[in-house]
Parts: sequence; structure tokens; C-alpha cells
Amino acid sequence: MKKILLATEKAFVKEAVEKIAAIVKEANYELIKLENYKDPKDLLAAVPAVDAIIIRSDIVNKEVLDAAKNLKIVVRAGAGYDNIDTKYAAEKKVVAMNTPGQNSNAVAELAFGMMLYAARTWFTPKSGTELRGKKLGIHAYGFVGRSLAAIAKGFGMEIYAYDPFVDAAVIEKDGVKAVKSVEELYGTCQYVSLHIPATEKTKKSINHALLSKMPKGAVLINTARKEVIDETSLLKMFEERPDFKYLSDVEDTVKEQVVEKYKDRAFFTPKKMGAQTEEANINAGIAAARQIVNFFEKGDLTFKVN
Ligand code: 3PG
Repeated sequence: MKKILLATEKAFVKEAVEKIAAIVKEANYELIKLENYKDPKDLLAAVPAVDAIIIRSDIVNKEVLDAAKNLKIVVRAGAGYDNIDTKYAAEKKVVAMNTPGQNSNAVAELAFGMMLYAARTWFTPKSGTELRGKKLGIHAYGFVGRSLAAIAKGFGMEIYAYDPFVDAAVIEKDGVKAVKSVEELYGTCQYVSLHIPATEKTKKSINHALLSKMPKGAVLINTARKEVIDETSLLKMFEERPDFKYLSDVEDTVKEQVVEKYKDRAFFTPKKMGAQTEEANINAGIAAARQIVNFFEKGDLTFKVN
């Protein structure tokens, strides 16, 4: 009987877990649950006998892959898979997958909510500004970027996007202006929302040269990854530009420093929670479980990322 481990340091809602369990049971596999664990050692101890693992932002590095002697597949129930050592997994003949699009609406709603929160001066009685007619720059037009554009449209924002991997025609079909360079995006938009993955190329790519191009009243929203921001540049922006605001859901390393000095211009969620909705948990959980069953039963490699 195949053993499927659900390893989530940040647990899914009950209904998502029940739905995963039902899919696993129907396939005649065994589900092992490691939820809300506190120590990476708990994950290490849980993996030796399992054939498959479902994770969220849980770290699957060399150590975990070496310990998981029977592992054939690891599925990241979510979009970004920078938490998996995909190269080493491939060397060990372990398939890595993600579940693209399944939690994107949740992340887009949070990004938009944070934008609104900044525009309305942190929900204090202080006079704010409206989003209608303001320019929003969407940095990367994937599932989250598209969902965000749809929401922002309802608010009457002027929307721009930069994504070198998406045809301008696809972007413009949504009523979004496709800009040709990242510099143009930051130079044009008062609000910028990040939706790029953390890769060797994108790490620290959001730097001072780019951020300083943003117009007056600049607001940067990060529901992507902390690694894509050059944090020294971020601190420099706070120092140089009293108009600059930053709202983040990514557990930045400089969080304490920013809160201490610039708390009126920054907001950090207590824990990464963009994808933490019932719907996103259920969608991503079901997708991950189904992908595992389809992989074992039909050799289906759709969504393989390594
Ligand atoms: C993702 O990459 O899917 C999001 O960052 C959500 O991550 P989470 O599952 O850890 O909440």
C-alpha cells in the first residue's frame, strides 16, 4: 500500500484534509498526517517510508530527500516551488510538481486588500486616497497577476503589467496595458504588486535602481517572496523617500528593523497567509492528492517542474 505524507507546518483547514484523505482512501493508499509541526526534524523523521509527500512552503532539501528513501513524488500544494531542491530531486528520480492556479485568487485578494489598507491610511480616521484612476503595475502576469487585474478593474484602476514570458496580446485582451520593460512598469505605476517567483535570476532583482523610479506616493506590495527584494535597497527607499510604503506577506528579514523605524509606512502580516483561505486550501489540497494518484496510476506527469 502506497504511503502518502501530508506535511504542512502551516496546516490546511479540516475540510481540505478530509478531501485529501478521501482521494487517498479511494486510491487504496494510506495517508500519514504531519500537520502543524514545529521542527524540521519532525519532517525528517516522517519521510523514510513514504512514497509521496504533499507540502506547502515546507522545506524539502537534500537532507529530506536523502532521508526519504522510498520517495517517488513530492507535490507542492501551491504555486512557488523554491522550497524544493528540484535539481537534487531529479537526480534522485523524485518527481516534483506544483498545483498552479489553485490558490491564486486568495493571494490576489490579499494583495488587493493590502493596497486598499495603504490607500485608506491603515484604516484609521486619517484622510486617505481612492484607488479609482490610480496606476497599478502588476509584476508578472501569471495566475495571481491575472486575478489581481480582474479585481483592480472593478475598482477602476489603470492597470499595467510586465511579463516577458506572456504575449502582450494576452495581457491586453484583459484590458491591461503590457509594458515593454520592468523599468517602465516601476516608472509608471504608483502601486506595484509583485508576482514573480524566486529564482536565481529574480533574487534581489527588485533593487534601488528600480524602486527609486516609482512615482510619488509609491506603494509596493509583496505577496511573492522575500528573496526577490534586495532588502538593503528596501531600507534605503524607506530612508530616502518619506512617501514610500511597503506591505508584505513574505516574512522579510528586515521586518523588525522596518517596524522599529518606519512603522507608519509599512505593514507585515504576522505569518505568510496569502493562500490561507478555506477555498485555496481545498483547491490546492485536492489538486495535489489527485496529481499523486494520477502519477502512480497513469504515469501522469502534468505539472512536473523538474
Ligand atoms: C504559493 O507559492 O503557493 C504561495 O506562496 C502560498 O504558500 P503557502 O502554501 O505556504 O501558504
